[in-house]
Amino acid sequence: MMNISTDLCDILLQKLDIRAIAAMAANGIIGNNNSIPWDIPEEMAFFRRMTQNASALMGRKTFESIGHPLPNRQNIVMTKDEAWHYDTVITIQKLDQLLELDIKEPLWVCGGAMIYEMLFPACRELYLSTVFGEFDGDTKMPPFGDIFVINETILTCPTFKVDHYVTRRHANIEKNPLSL
Ligand SMILES: NC(=O)c1ccc[n+]([C@@H]2O[C@H](COP(=O)([O-])OP(=O)(O)OC[C@H]3O[C@@H](n4cnc5c(N)ncnc54)[C@H](OP(=O)(O)O)[C@@H]3O)[C@@H](O)[C@H]2O)c1
Repeated sequence: MMNISTDLCDILLQKLDIRAIAAMAANGIIGNNNSIPWDIPEEMAFFRRMTQNASALMGRKTFESIGHPLPNRQNIVMTKDEAWHYDTVITIQKLDQLLELDIKEPLWVCGGAMIYEMLFPACRELYLSTVFGEFDGDTKMPPFGDIFVINETILTCPTFKVDHYVTRRHANIEKNPLSL
């Protein structure tokens, strides 16, 4: 797993409004067989509402599991494969390419696990749905407790709740801006 450098992380935190959005089961599962192991239309609607008219960054596997660009969003896919191409989708091989793009902020980090793990340190906020119940799966939510602190529960439904987290690191950087 690639860790991003502290310098790049600080620059991304300062220059771009990057937020993560994810849904996990009570046992930490976020995916199985390259798909999401539950079908909760209200949770999908929450995701859609939050990410509308902004940018959505995802790993190549997540994009291919969805199968098409998310409508009304600037789709950005991360892959090491320089030949990978999909109409209307921006591809990046390295995170510093984000600084050269005209990003429609906020930039939503939409998974999967590899992309969350790499980008959590550069995110100002995390909107995390917890789906009530345990699910079988092969992909788990990466650890996030050291990076984010809970702010508040913003939505409670019969099958899931949404917690809003903020990163302490961003709060610290805002207090002590670097001269970049
Ligand atoms: N519950 C949720 O909120 C949620 C959200 C999203 C996805 N998911 C689930 O998560 C699973 C997929 O997650 P995943 O972790 O296996 O895959 P992923 O993060 O979606 O994509 C991984 C791919 O991203 C590219 N990548 C990763 N690190 C990179 C780097 N440092 N530089 C360049 N490219 C890089 C690589 O593409 P190449 O191989 O092309 O180089 C890699 O194979 C699926 O089951 C999906 O349904 C769940």
